[in-house]
Amino acid sequence: MTEIAEQTAPAFHVVDDPAAAVAELLAAEAKRGGTLVLTGGSAVDRAYELAALHQPDWSQAAVFWGDERCVPPDDELSNYALARRTLLDRLARLPDVHRIRGELDPAEAAVEYEAAVKDVILDLVLLGLGPDGHIASLFHGSPQLHERSRLVTDGPPGLEPFVHRVTLTLPALVAARRIVLLVTGQGKAEAVQRAFRDPISEEAPGSLLRTGPAPIDIYLDAAAAGAR
Ligand code: 6PG
Repeated sequence: MTEIAEQTAPAFHVVDDPAAAVAELLAAEAKRGGTLVLTGGSAVDRAYELAALHQPDWSQAAVFWGDERCVPPDDELSNYALARRTLLDRLARLPDVHRIRGELDPAEAAVEYEAAVKDVILDLVLLGLGPDGHIASLFHGSPQLHERSRLVTDGPPGLEPFVHRVTLTLPALVAARRIVLLVTGQGKAEAVQRAFRDPISEEAPGSLLRTGPAPIDIYLDAAAAGAR
């Protein structure tokens, strides 16, 4: 099999408290009036809480999401609901909020969100990494992983929770000024290896970020970095 060429080598930042390090980046970007893309997942809540503490005024910033589960905005599975609870509700001044409307028909939500992100420069895209190596809702074997002309699409989940997704596509993610990943815990060590150290492969969708021009900073703890 021919190797997929790497354009950007990721920078690893192995730190004791990666959520705190990422919170500082988010707070600084919000203060600067940047455009931030938020993620869901299990690792980000503390980063959001600390970012709100560091920088309560996000009025100059704009926030988008990398992906959303197709549920209403108050559903406990909603990525918007997670960010609302841990970040937005704690701010003194809100940013411009551009959520993916998970309550709509997914194809319609994708078209609506594509219009919102089109022509927007994404300054900082925050992503998690699934234990299977997925990023946003780009799963191995899913049609959305192969989308190359649109910025947003919808498609099936590859992992829990098993609800349909709307997601930024790979071209949208790698067009960002900067990609930041927050990855914690030993359960992610193999995914980190497959996505960021092994040869690039669709089997670990996160590895495809390395095919694009955006700088990639991975903030991880020793366990996720594979320390024993
Ligand atoms: C989602 C997320 C997703 C997440 C990773 C990591 O909606 O599920 O946006 O891409 O960031 O799956 O999530 P965990 O930390 O829960 O494994």
